[in-house]
Amino acid sequence: MSTAKKDYKKITTKSLIDMKAQGEKISMLTAYDFTMAKIVDSAGIDVILVGDSASNVMAGHETTLPITLDQMIYHASSVVRGAVRALVVVDLPFGSYQSDPKEALRSAIRIMKESGGHAVKLEGGKEIKESIKKILNAGIPVMGHLGLTPQSIYKFGTYTVRAKEEQEALKLIEDAKLLEKLGCFSLVLEKIPAKLAQQIAESISIPVIGIGAGSGVDGQVLVIHDMLGMNNEFSPRFLRRYMNLYEGMTSAISQYVGDVKSKNFPNEKEQY
Ligand code: KIV
Repeated sequence: MSTAKKDYKKITTKSLIDMKAQGEKISMLTAYDFTMAKIVDSAGIDVILVGDSASNVMAGHETTLPITLDQMIYHASSVVRGAVRALVVVDLPFGSYQSDPKEALRSAIRIMKESGGHAVKLEGGKEIKESIKKILNAGIPVMGHLGLTPQSIYKFGTYTVRAKEEQEALKLIEDAKLLEKLGCFSLVLEKIPAKLAQQIAESISIPVIGIGAGSGVDGQVLVIHDMLGMNNEFSPRFLRRYMNLYEGMTSAISQYVGDVKSKNFPNEKEQY
């Protein structure tokens, strides 16, 4: 089985399904603004997720619950302007799809029309089945999200690993199969045992993208601020930091402050 990266011109939902079939792992990162999306896209990412984690990392909220549909559309439209190649998936925020399928469809349509995103992501399985159907029937691609679903944090009470017990694991497998059957093009599994995630990835044909779900799935996703080390207070076991931007940025900014205070900036060449 080849692991070589194929040169897909523009990533579509079909490209992801082909990647799974060919054993090519899918790379996905979050982005919430134009500049970051441009960088992430030009580095060759397959999928950009405009995650509702914007509520945490962009707005400073403790949970993903406060972010609104209008705010998600603002972030998503900025990302779409920066992404040339990647597929852009946009989270439906808490409160925009749970009450009834018609509302879910209206929210998904607003995201597609007003941001130009290519697909939406929703958290949950059987309980939001009718909403997923309705969105799919309108021709909008849907990515599922199971396991730790941060919009339900007050139900779980903690961000620890989900589905360690058999009953929850069985429900997760059932939900994953249901999402595949409904026609979702892909599925995120968050913070579940690696063995279970691999079992699910092997039992369904749509790509399974993991975060804290081990290496046996079809792709990986991380929050960009976490993998670039912009937040030095968040160190879960699943996170690999590729940079320490927190330190790099703090050091650059304090040098700038020093240069301004000492009248070292601007120098003669830096003025007109
Ligand atoms: O909002 C988000 O960033 C997400 C990822 C953690 C998968 O849903």
